[in-house]
Amino acid sequence: MTVQQALRIVDEDEEGIDNAFRRDVLRGLSEPQKAVPARWFYDERGSELFEEITRLPEYYPTRAEKEILRAHGSDFRRSIGAGRAVVEFGSGSSAKTPLLLQAIEPAAYVPIDISGDFLRASARRLAEKLPDLPIHPVEADFTQPVTMPAEIEGVARLGFFPGSTIGNMVPRTAVDLLRDMRETLERGSPDGHPPLLLIGMDRIKSRKILIPAYDDAKGVTAAFNLNLLTRINRELAGDMPVDAFRHRAIWNDDIARIEMHLEAQHDISFTVAGRAFTMQAGETIHTENSHKYGRRSAAALLLAGGWTPVDRWNDHESQFMVILAEASPLRSAP
Ligand code: AVI
Repeated sequence: MTVQQALRIVDEDEEGIDNAFRRDVLRGLSEPQKAVPARWFYDERGSELFEEITRLPEYYPTRAEKEILRAHGSDFRRSIGAGRAVVEFGSGSSAKTPLLLQAIEPAAYVPIDISGDFLRASARRLAEKLPDLPIHPVEADFTQPVTMPAEIEGVARLGFFPGSTIGNMVPRTAVDLLRDMRETLERGSPDGHPPLLLIGMDRIKSRKILIPAYDDAKGVTAAFNLNLLTRINRELAGDMPVDAFRHRAIWNDDIARIEMHLEAQHDISFTVAGRAFTMQAGETIHTENSHKYGRRSAAALLLAGGWTPVDRWNDHESQFMVILAEASPLRSAP
């Protein structure tokens, strides 16, 4: 749930989710480099497959981030301080949140998620674990500025965006999101306590680790990628020959990102929503980017989004990083 919300860029309330899916797929299949946005991976089956990916031996990011959150509780407490309202963007099941909340003694927790039922159920579960913590769920699309609940008016804030979902956005979209997060957190913040943001980012590393993480031996990531075609066939009256495609994970070294593609094994033709398409053998549909960052490129991204990094923690193999950033002063010298 977290991911699918985070990758929502359009307002489906206005347009309707089916129309948005049809529009993205038809537009994407008509481009010279065919592409379908990654947010459409997450139907029910896609969400299950993603959960399975996070448990694969080759897929290190989830394990590495949890290790950081577990190991650095006292550092978080020191750098963040007690008494902030923690605002989680795309909280989903809030699976990693207790590790943080237990460490820093927050004044309140504000999970934001687009799926209201899921949000309320997760909030109830968390309330059983942390009965003294005020929880104020907000059902909203956080890819735009969100109005914070009145209960945290005047309370200093910490934004929380774990999971390296920021990596699934091209930098331009990531920067827009970071700016919107800042706006969300800044309104109603007390003077002299700029908002903080704790964000997970995956690090640049060897192809030898990256490729298996996105092309695992059991074929779960392949099934996750190919499920997109099954979804298109089911929901958009398509007849895409799923068996004619193979999953590809490619490291694009110039842009420091893993790209997932679906490659046609032979020449094919198919229809989607009444429109005809052809693909030649070797041609691909680009389905996902997963940008990886180094210390400096992460800082550049955050600075462009209005945040100054102030602290950073790695797992023991330096595969993943969790960065603490502070809303940058609007006019900093020079
Ligand atoms: C959700 N996101 C951070 C995952 C990633 O690693 O980019 C999505 C994923 N795609 C394939 N495996 C995992």
